[in-house]
Amino acid sequence: YRKYAAYPSVAITARSWPDKSITKAPIWCSVDLRDGNQALPVPMSVEEKVTMFQLLVSIGFKEIEVGFPSASATEFAFARRLIEERLIPDDVTIQVLTQAREHLIRKTFDAISGAKHAIVHLYNSTSTLQRDVVFRKNREEIKAIAVEGTALVRRLKDESGNAGIRFEYSPESFTGTELDYALDVCHAVMDTWGASADEKIILNLPSTVEMSQPNIYADRIEWFCRNIKARDAVLISVHAHNDRGTAVATAELAVMAGADRVEGALFGNGERCGNMDVVIMALNLFSQGVDPELDFSDLPRIREVYRRCTRMDIHPRNPYSGELVYTAFSGSHQDAISKGMKAQPLSPGGLWAVPYLPIDPQDVGCNYEAIVRINSQSGKGGVAYVLEKEYGIQIPKWMQPDFAEVVQAVADTTGVELSVEQIHDLFHAEYVKLR
Ligand code: KIV
Ligand code: ZN
Repeated sequence: YRKYAAYPSVAITARSWPDKSITKAPIWCSVDLRDGNQALPVPMSVEEKVTMFQLLVSIGFKEIEVGFPSASATEFAFARRLIEERLIPDDVTIQVLTQAREHLIRKTFDAISGAKHAIVHLYNSTSTLQRDVVFRKNREEIKAIAVEGTALVRRLKDESGNAGIRFEYSPESFTGTELDYALDVCHAVMDTWGASADEKIILNLPSTVEMSQPNIYADRIEWFCRNIKARDAVLISVHAHNDRGTAVATAELAVMAGADRVEGALFGNGERCGNMDVVIMALNLFSQGVDPELDFSDLPRIREVYRRCTRMDIHPRNPYSGELVYTAFSGSHQDAISKGMKAQPLSPGGLWAVPYLPIDPQDVGCNYEAIVRINSQSGKGGVAYVLEKEYGIQIPKWMQPDFAEVVQAVADTTGVELSVEQIHDLFHAEYVKLR
């Protein structure tokens, strides 16, 4: 990441806090095995969840929501398997979701019995819509659900004697909840838990349904950070869904607005339009010279395991991870990339500077070979680049436009991309055999 430059920050003089660029990775929490899994047409089996968990650990997640163990036998069995087979590294904390209902909370504690580090994640819905339409309860009644749930988690934690158990509370549908009311509920939860600087709790403020522009969500997070009664007793976490297609921007702005922690899923898997794509956000940091503290240096392997476990596709133009994002089809792009590539490798301490490629594909395990493809849109520079790169043939400048025309004519006729072998054969037929 040191080969990428931080974007020059715009000086906003009126406000000095929070910082207007992200200078450090947030605490990440993967929700692939819970929110991601619950949105799959065919949920993962225990075996697939184990594979996925190991993938997430290898990427470097230190907090992983492993499921909703009180909701299904598979989820319960998976939590038990992780714990009993000691599959959880010491520096990794598993997180388990539960509704604020007594029997579900008790079952959740059964599921995590024996875990060294676990976060019990309690949620209840607080929005006006859910209060009126789904629960038909008033503000005080909804707050009481959160408080009673928190009290039970507190009691069961104390009874378990397991100091490794932490607590997260989500006012679900936060984006549809009045801010002052959400704050009131969170204050009640903090009091019930006895949150302090020594025993921080996680307050996760979900964009359960993305209902506005990212800056509006970020303003809400900033307001929350400023108004919470003991900022040092809580970690502020964000959990963005992608209904408006802006979940990554939402999470990034929320971190700039003061959030400490970000929940998301690989390739944006999750309910409806997905959860925040953690690959994109991490690599956005990376490409601005910030260590994301997650390792995406082997994206092809990560994609393969993800596809195998989830049976989901990744869009070919998904930022950073799509199969087509390190290709250039147009001639002028190919020419510019070719010139940029020649100007590499970087001098020590130098910066990555290849036009049209915001990052070096090799940093994410992708191959230079696939970058320049030749079709009817390609120009002379690209054709020459491919011949030189693949066969060491340097065609003189005067010959390049002529040969590009030959290649384009074939590509126009066939309507498909040409392989490097075909280009080589054409070159041979045109210039070598004739002589
Ligand atoms: O989207 C959401 O609000 C959730 C909560 C359970 C945190 O997934
Ligand atoms: Zn969610």
